[in-house]
Amino acid sequence: MPATVIVGLQWGDEGKGKTTDFLAEQTALVVRYQGGDNAGHTLMLGDEVFKLHLVPSGILYPHIVPVIGPGVVVNPQTLIEELDRLAARGIDISRLRASFAAHVILPYHRALDVAREHRLGGAKVGTTGRGIGPAYEDRAARSGLRLEDLLDEAAMRSKLERVLPEKNAVLAALGAEVRFEVDPLVEQALAWGRRLAPHLIDVTWLVQDALRRGDHVLLEGAQGTLLDLDHGSYPFVTSSSPVAGGACTGGGIGPRQVDEVFGVMKAYATRVGSGPFPTELLDGVGEGIAERGHEVGTTTGRPRRVGFFDAVSTRYAVAVNSVSSIMLNKLDILSGVDPIRLCVAYEIDGKRVEAWPSSAKLLERATPVYEDFPGWEEPIHAVRALSDLPDAARRYVTALEETAGAPIVLVSVGPERTQTIERAWRPMRHRVVAGP
Ligand code: IMP
Repeated sequence: MPATVIVGLQWGDEGKGKTTDFLAEQTALVVRYQGGDNAGHTLMLGDEVFKLHLVPSGILYPHIVPVIGPGVVVNPQTLIEELDRLAARGIDISRLRASFAAHVILPYHRALDVAREHRLGGAKVGTTGRGIGPAYEDRAARSGLRLEDLLDEAAMRSKLERVLPEKNAVLAALGAEVRFEVDPLVEQALAWGRRLAPHLIDVTWLVQDALRRGDHVLLEGAQGTLLDLDHGSYPFVTSSSPVAGGACTGGGIGPRQVDEVFGVMKAYATRVGSGPFPTELLDGVGEGIAERGHEVGTTTGRPRRVGFFDAVSTRYAVAVNSVSSIMLNKLDILSGVDPIRLCVAYEIDGKRVEAWPSSAKLLERATPVYEDFPGWEEPIHAVRALSDLPDAARRYVTALEETAGAPIVLVSVGPERTQTIERAWRPMRHRVVAGP
């Protein structure tokens, strides 16, 4: 049962794309299991940079079938534009498969997302404005459209006739001016359906058949554990389940089919949007890390908030995901930072706390308790073995590993695939055959 889940251990943007890239060679299917076009994967293939939002990164490898799972919310317009851009760069897009059951983000979801955030003012979540929350709300309320509905005009029309009066009323109540009508939306959605029809299938059997054959399936999470709807710093979270458990519900597999959970984390922390961030740096050190690490949102272009590594939240993330191995990214960005501070506990209301409280109220009152590590000056992009790292860097990696409680098997020292230290690497045990 060779299924590997790749999951972010922080607030997203941990560099999961590089992990997928690293494992791609042995993989037949890459399945995206949650989120929508709020995500952004940046991948480097040779000298070329690819920025993907919705299409699983497997699309860049001719031997992989990229799959959009039932747990994803799909904006068909974004998907089609992304496919067109990839095709224009010579990428074969015909292999993409998307689940019939994935829900559709419609223009009114985006309008509601923006209007709600506007209404919240200073209390806003800082969403990406892509309609993610409103689309998942409709899914839970059983009033959403699924990708299969794009192929069925009658079903689509009757669903839109039912929901649009309600959506327009809510938009009016929120003070938004935009309104939506059934006919133009049906026309638009039918055009999307015609274009996407060759890609739509029942993904569950595709994944299950691949596992039965012994193919390696990679389940790729978007965002990160601390943005998880159930386990993150609610309400400053996204509306899906980025945790490894989400790979089961959103990808159509059972827990016993997961072979390995690969946690991905950066050597420091970042966060986009609002919400508590105990180790946030608001000084020159943070600015330096943000600049060297190009910490700007792939999707929104917003600057990411930057902070020191938080061992408290990482221990939590390793636990809730049952992480079996870790990829540590962007260690190179810390060259020149001295001291490097590692948050080992919080102080909340005068008490030392070592267990991450997934309550935003408590987190807002948390101040970090730091252990300081000496930094190193030299660039480390060319290092390929842990033993060749400066002593201080090696000590820091060891401290991160001890605090996480799971082995760090890959350490990234630059954006390219080759700029990676492979450590105690356990080769995958299973054969790979090309996808269907
Ligand atoms: P939403 O997912 O657009 O509803 O936004 C909810 C929260 O998740 C906001 O704080 C966003 O900034 C954050 N978020 C959503 N997607 C990403 C991502 O891919 N990386 C980092 N933060 C994200």
